[in-house]
Amino acid sequence: MTEPLKVALLGCGNVGSEVARLLVEQRADLAARIGKPVQLTGIAVRRPNRHPGVPAELLTTDAAALVDSDVDLVVEVIGGIEPARTLLLAALRSGKSVVSANKALLAEHAAELFAAADEAGVDLYFEAAVAGAIPLLRPLRESLAGDRINRVMGIVNGTTNFILSAMDETGSGYAETLEEASRRGYAEADPTADVDGYDAASKAAILASLAFHTRVTAADVYREGISAVTAADVAAARVLGRTIKLLAICERVSEPDGSESVAVRVHPAMIPRGHPLAGVNGAFNAVFVEADAAGQLMFYGQGAGGAPSASAVLGDLVAVARNRVVGGRGPGESAYAALPVLPISRANTRYHLSLDVADRPGVLSAVASVFAEHDVSIAAVRQEGRAGDASLVIVTHSAPDAALRSTVDKIAGLPAVREVVSVMRVEGEEP
Ligand SMILES: NC(=O)c1ccc[n+]([C@@H]2O[C@H](COP(=O)([O-])OP(=O)(O)OC[C@H]3O[C@@H](n4cnc5c(N)ncnc54)[C@H](OP(=O)(O)O)[C@@H]3O)[C@@H](O)[C@H]2O)c1
Repeated sequence: MTEPLKVALLGCGNVGSEVARLLVEQRADLAARIGKPVQLTGIAVRRPNRHPGVPAELLTTDAAALVDSDVDLVVEVIGGIEPARTLLLAALRSGKSVVSANKALLAEHAAELFAAADEAGVDLYFEAAVAGAIPLLRPLRESLAGDRINRVMGIVNGTTNFILSAMDETGSGYAETLEEASRRGYAEADPTADVDGYDAASKAAILASLAFHTRVTAADVYREGISAVTAADVAAARVLGRTIKLLAICERVSEPDGSESVAVRVHPAMIPRGHPLAGVNGAFNAVFVEADAAGQLMFYGQGAGGAPSASAVLGDLVAVARNRVVGGRGPGESAYAALPVLPISRANTRYHLSLDVADRPGVLSAVASVFAEHDVSIAAVRQEGRAGDASLVIVTHSAPDAALRSTVDKIAGLPAVREVVSVMRVEGEEP
């Protein structure tokens, strides 16, 4: 009888329990697809008494010993940096192929993990780390390996997308919508990683690294969350036929001297309601990729959840298992381009600005002259007067973020400007 491939599963929570279920339920199909049966030899958890449905003989609290045992593949769905990092380095160094769903770890320690995988000649796959079930990393790493990717832009965090979609639908403020999201199970008890953009920044780092064949870590990513988005911002977007989304944007930037760099940022932005990303609501994710030869591609689907993420983990498991059966390995890290990462101040963005101003002659020209001073050109202006007050809405053309920020700071100090009601970056086509 064919010797099975032995698999250690680290973690049995939302994702791990679904991985364990699929490994059992799909046993026969997996064996046929891989060319060898797969045997789950152990599951590491923290609290074994919380897993009554798992055969007791599989459970262990000693993840290090499980990694050290006679297994071929290690699947890590614990999350966080430690002990996951130490466990995966040990697995790779002892010749085991690794599948992980851990975005935080891959966004910070990819270089070290890939070096260990290269040295041992084994695989490190992590499709579930970005955008859950959506096949995205494999297309970037493999299908588009012959093309030149210029931009990746997407919605990669379901919690913030749920909150922003709900704010758009109901007109409610951020705090009450977050509360509602928590009540309905769409936000964690501690929502910081999601609402402050850390989760999306980790994913953006992974996407930029793969898309541009360079090394970008989470710390390189400019990050703004959604907690400062107000009902007034949402209303201002609506008036302009736009909606607000938390976007992860990874761009290749060509410098005037012919050199290249990358800009990677996560922040809320207004996009036109007709933009394909505007229709991505609730917990769904979608990512746009623009490449020289392929043109525009869009990837869409469930970006989180136990079963959807387990689908991506299992896909990786089949891939690394097949590689082991034939004695080869998949692509390793490709960071040869070694592109510098630009600070946000140098990234080209566009701003939407909504101002409460005094309704008197000369206000518009005073505001316009601040834009001109900073070399920022205006794409559209709308002014509405009402009994001594007026609202002024301005959308700019693309300019360095630093110039746009200084423009807003100076405008806020103009005597005729009563209040800067909303400032938001704008993505999508020019108005
Ligand atoms: N949830 C999603 O929708 C989703 C989507 C894509 C990617 N991911 C990623 O998948 C990973 C797991 O997420 P999750 O939602 O499944 O997490 P989770 O529900 O919190 O599960 C974590 C599991 O790891 C176990 N664990 C924690 N520390 C451990 C340790 N020191 N030794 C052994 N086991 C330990 C826990 O054991 P106990 O159960 O005994 O406490 C639990 O079974 C994370 O990297 C996450 O970012 C999650």
